[in-house]
Amino acid sequence: MVTDLKTIIFGLLITFKTGYGQDFGYDGNTGPDFWGLKYQGCNGGKLQSPIDIELNNVTEKEFPPLVFQHFDEPLETVKLENNGHTALLSIKQGKIPNVRGGPLNETYNFSQLHFHWGRTDDEGSENLVNNQSFPLELHMVLYNTKYGNFSNALYYDDGLTVLSFLYHKTIKQNQHYQKFERELPAVENLNATVDIIGFVSLDNFTTTDRNEYFTYKGSLTTPPCSEVVTWLEFINTIPLSHEQIQEFRFLSGARGKLNHNFRPAQARNDRSVYMNIPTLSSTASSSNDRSSSKLNAHSKNGRSSSGDLRSNCGVFVLLMFKYFYYIVN
Ligand SMILES: *[C@@H]1O[C@H](CO)[C@@H](O)[C@H](O)[C@H]1NC(C)=O
Ligand SMILES: *[C@@H]1O[C@H](CO)[C@@H](O)[C@H](O)[C@H]1NC(C)=O
Ligand SMILES: *[C@@H]1O[C@H](CO)[C@@H](O)[C@H](O)[C@H]1NC(C)=O
Ligand SMILES: *[C@@H]1O[C@H](CO)[C@@H](O)[C@H](O)[C@H]1NC(C)=O
Ligand SMILES: *[C@@H]1O[C@H](CO)[C@@H](O)[C@H](O)[C@H]1NC(C)=O
Ligand SMILES: *[C@@H]1O[C@H](CO)[C@@H](O)[C@H](O)[C@H]1NC(C)=O
Ligand SMILES: *[C@@H]1O[C@H](CO)[C@@H](O)[C@H](O)[C@H]1NC(C)=O
Ligand SMILES: [Zn+2]
Repeated sequence: MVTDLKTIIFGLLITFKTGYGQDFGYDGNTGPDFWGLKYQGCNGGKLQSPIDIELNNVTEKEFPPLVFQHFDEPLETVKLENNGHTALLSIKQGKIPNVRGGPLNETYNFSQLHFHWGRTDDEGSENLVNNQSFPLELHMVLYNTKYGNFSNALYYDDGLTVLSFLYHKTIKQNQHYQKFERELPAVENLNATVDIIGFVSLDNFTTTDRNEYFTYKGSLTTPPCSEVVTWLEFINTIPLSHEQIQEFRFLSGARGKLNHNFRPAQARNDRSVYMNIPTLSSTASSSNDRSSSKLNAHSKNGRSSSGDLRSNCGVFVLLMFKYFYYIVN
């Protein structure tokens, strides 16, 4: 009798322990279709993420320039962990990067970044463009500083922003990922963590070409699917080789290999998706910044020609060309 009770209690403890934060997956009866049973937020909300961004149905809008702070400095010590759903990188020591401007009304502080990938290079991204998948997507999660911390920000509809970057496959390795890729096997097992000292800057880990982006109101793409996220999906993609993308698929989750971890596109409903059109004036004022060789190079094009380039039709053609290029490669 006592033994039975012990067994039952022990069993319950195990259930709770493994249940905590591990009670969702991407397959079978723990997959996205079933998240709503445990997490009401994932069920039938009107602002769920990810979505399919349709290029012929985005609203062009001029947002104020985005301002990134501490994105250009190397991260002193970062912690890389396998939480059973993704590889997650947080800052252990060093300055906390932040972002403001664009569609954001306040300053948002860095919380963590993580990845979504697929079984093959033909899938993996969560947000899609014209139904096109990309092999990997990076989510940099930042919280509104007016709410003090990440957990508190989860309760407000302007609580979080996700800076989201898509990847495209290249023959050449991306040198900025060498340190990261070297440590990834160290977190192959569920809950494994490793500290990386002297990491690259967020600028080098992503891309500094961040003037063009889509933005829309959405949610976390994992339970509890809270509808508190201002999404920024950058149009410029990050290069990574097949071998580098492949590394993510070796991580283990609670039920074997975590070879895919993307949620399917959700209904857009009547949401607007905006596309930022960088203005001539913001480009011109940024080009006064001597530290930015890129923007200086931009201004060489002269005002009238870059103005022509930014006509609606031009941007659309440019985009179609860009995505077509990635698809055929
Ligand atoms: C992983 O971590 C979670 C949350 O801390 C814990 O509940 C779970 O038991 C751990 N699983 C393993 C296999 O270590
Ligand atoms: C910023 O403020 C405007 C005006 O109040 C509001 O419409 C918009 O949704 C806010 N943006 C965010 C990201 O919360
Ligand atoms: C994307 O897929 C959805 C659902 O299959 C379809 O309704 C929509 O027309 C597709 N969009 C494009 C641009 O192909
Ligand atoms: C945001 O980060 C800055 C450092 O960049 C820090 O001084 C500030 O306390 C942080 N704010 C919140 C609310 O966490
Ligand atoms: C986050 O902020 C809330 C509200 O100020 C506070 O109650 C809570 O203890 C804080 N949580 C953490 C983890 O700091
Ligand atoms: C970023 O990359 C450039 C070019 O490879 C390099 O010179 C620079 O030191 C890197 N900066 C940081 C902070 O990682
Ligand atoms: C464009 O998006 C709006 C929602 O913002 C939707 O109501 C409309 O049906 C869409 N139009 C097309 C042609 O897909
Ligand atoms: Zn994510």
